[in-house]
Amino acid sequence: EDPALLAEFEARIARGESIEPKDWMPERYRRQLVRMMSQHAHSEVVGMLPEGNWITRAPSLRRKLSLLAKVQDEAGHGLYIYCGTETLGVDRQQLLEELITGKAKYSSIFNYPTLTWADMGVIGWFVDGAAIVNQTALAKHCSYGPYKRAMVRVCKEENFHKKQGFESVAALAQGTPAQHAMVQDAVDRWWWPTLMMFGPPDSDSPNSAELLRWGVKKYTNDELRQRFVNLTIPQAQAVGLTLPDPSLRFDEATGNWVFGEIDWNEFWQVVKGDGPCNRERVAARRAAHEDGEWVRAAATAHAEKKAARGAT
Ligand code: ACO
Repeated sequence: EDPALLAEFEARIARGESIEPKDWMPERYRRQLVRMMSQHAHSEVVGMLPEGNWITRAPSLRRKLSLLAKVQDEAGHGLYIYCGTETLGVDRQQLLEELITGKAKYSSIFNYPTLTWADMGVIGWFVDGAAIVNQTALAKHCSYGPYKRAMVRVCKEENFHKKQGFESVAALAQGTPAQHAMVQDAVDRWWWPTLMMFGPPDSDSPNSAELLRWGVKKYTNDELRQRFVNLTIPQAQAVGLTLPDPSLRFDEATGNWVFGEIDWNEFWQVVKGDGPCNRERVAARRAAHEDGEWVRAAATAHAEKKAARGAT
């Protein structure tokens, strides 16, 4: 690669300019973005499954409407981000192949089961809350234009997801003793996996240095995780729920909440395909893809017919 081009590219990033699809970029930058954006798109699409599981069992029409809207938003986010990867010259078909054959990564969080209705509220509060912390940083600072712009809209929708989740959690927490116990149990199950969403610790994050240097990431995994913890603890206190970490304490000196050790063995096990629901999730996506074959065939036939008509 031409050192002069690389120097100009890095100078543009230092000036805070956005890199656009037709601009020169190092191959490594392009590949890092394809990796990160495709994993993100897959996460949105697989993320529909744990919540889709509860749509038919929502306890009221109002709850059903917001859950349905949220799951549809996630489909939209996935499509939006897949379009973003296409600006980098990758074929969406190839990315989908990698997802349905279990080769692609997607967020670890979606490999946990949704056991009760309270999980819907806690996912909105924790998981979408974590996504907001991660993605507002991308919306504000990411050096790749199409990804940055996609995140602006995605974050607006994630905010609605988080609010509907927290409101549902608050209602259950103030409900009957059984409802309170159900939501506390959901909090206990989702807290640690949510902290894992931010990725491995900085000391064990091979991609961070390059992504920080090229302005894709603005903050490290540990910085964003800490920010999420600091934001969420007062919210838990406000609704009278506890977090399953006996070592949580506020550190006056740093203004941070200090939390206990994350089980990184569990994290890597889930990332490598061996979490509670990995096989089920990939199988569900594969079945959806295969069931949709007739739609793709019909759309292709229609496009061919239209093109042939246009040619005569
Ligand atoms: N789940 C699955 N895999 C993960 C996770 C996770 N929570 N965190 C890290 N990994 C993987 C990385 O993809 C990387 O693997 P790879 O090199 O084979 O791709 C490996 O673990 C090491 O991690 P890092 O070097 O720290 O990776 P990176 O610097 O890319 O940071 C992060 C990971 C924080 C997820 C980053 O890619 C990111 O911010 N992505 C955009 C946001 C996103 O994808 N969110 C998805 C969930 S939110 C939602 O969809 C609602």
